[in-house]
Amino acid sequence: MNKIAILASGTGTNAENIYRFFSNGNRVKVELVIYDRRNAPVAERMRALGADTLYLPAEVWEQRPQEIVDLLTQRGIDLVVLAGFLRFIPTPLTEAFKGRIINIHPSLLPAYGGRGMYGHKVHEAVIAAGEVESGVTVHYVTEEMDGGEILLQERVAVDPTDTPESLEAKIRRIEFDIYPRAIVAALTRMPRRPGEEWAEKLGVAYDPTKLPPHYPGAVPPPVANAATQAPPHEETPAATTPKGYAEVLQRAYGDDVPKMPPAYLVWAVVMTVLCCLPAGIVAIIFSSQVSSKYYAGDIEGAQRASDRAQIWIIVSFVLGVLTNTLYLPVALLFN
Ligand code: GRF
Repeated sequence: MNKIAILASGTGTNAENIYRFFSNGNRVKVELVIYDRRNAPVAERMRALGADTLYLPAEVWEQRPQEIVDLLTQRGIDLVVLAGFLRFIPTPLTEAFKGRIINIHPSLLPAYGGRGMYGHKVHEAVIAAGEVESGVTVHYVTEEMDGGEILLQERVAVDPTDTPESLEAKIRRIEFDIYPRAIVAALTRMPRRPGEEWAEKLGVAYDPTKLPPHYPGAVPPPVANAATQAPPHEETPAATTPKGYAEVLQRAYGDDVPKMPPAYLVWAVVMTVLCCLPAGIVAIIFSSQVSSKYYAGDIEGAQRASDRAQIWIIVSFVLGVLTNTLYLPVALLFN
């Protein structure tokens, strides 16, 4: 599950569209919606949908940007999505989330971008210049305003009868279509976190914010902080013992504690019965270690066991095939 944070300052129609789009699946979660204007309509709009919202005033953006980096890291945010966010992104954030912040702009960047070019002003400028086409750009956010690499761009014709309002309406429809797709594209381009690929292969729900703190790749839970109004930090049970880890899982996932699929074990048993007995038994031993090590909190050990189980399942298969095919010729040779 990838987590995104949406940053918005205004009405929030894009934020709502993104939230609704990803509510239908389980690959991307809108973890948090951050807004920087106390009365921004986006806050109420998103709360009504059940989203987790957080107000971060100008003072935090300007004087304590590292707190924002810490908050996003602690919440396990993979991608920061700007949707009508009118504030300059502070350097600590662009550095910590390099290649992981995207923005949508209602023009064909680099045209009609930069300082002062936002919202209605963009469409007014496009019409005033007599342009025959405009569009939408989703780009990465860097130090340079509206200047990062372009991820997706879509064009729209500007008709002679178009007004800034009609052009804005056309562009809004494209934004609703393009932004969720751009989010998926940006997430797909990002390198996997340690353990994620392996967990996906086994069908395990992997969430680094829900791992016990000593795990490789674990992200600490949110810490209480007056400025960010994060939920109070609860003591994490000692997770060094199997019981501790089971408790951590139970607290993190409630009744939906992820189950380790018996995938390798089933294959190992099948190979033992059908193919090669000794190699199959070795595969069974390693397969059974995957679950036991996982629940004992030894994720790396479980990963190693699953790699070995895979190898021995293949060895068992190959030996089984060789034994069956060579049995007849060898028997004939020695008789
Ligand atoms: C959109 O037009 C977007 O392109 C620009 O700001 C506007 C946000 O609108 N960056 P909304 O707040 O999502 O309704």
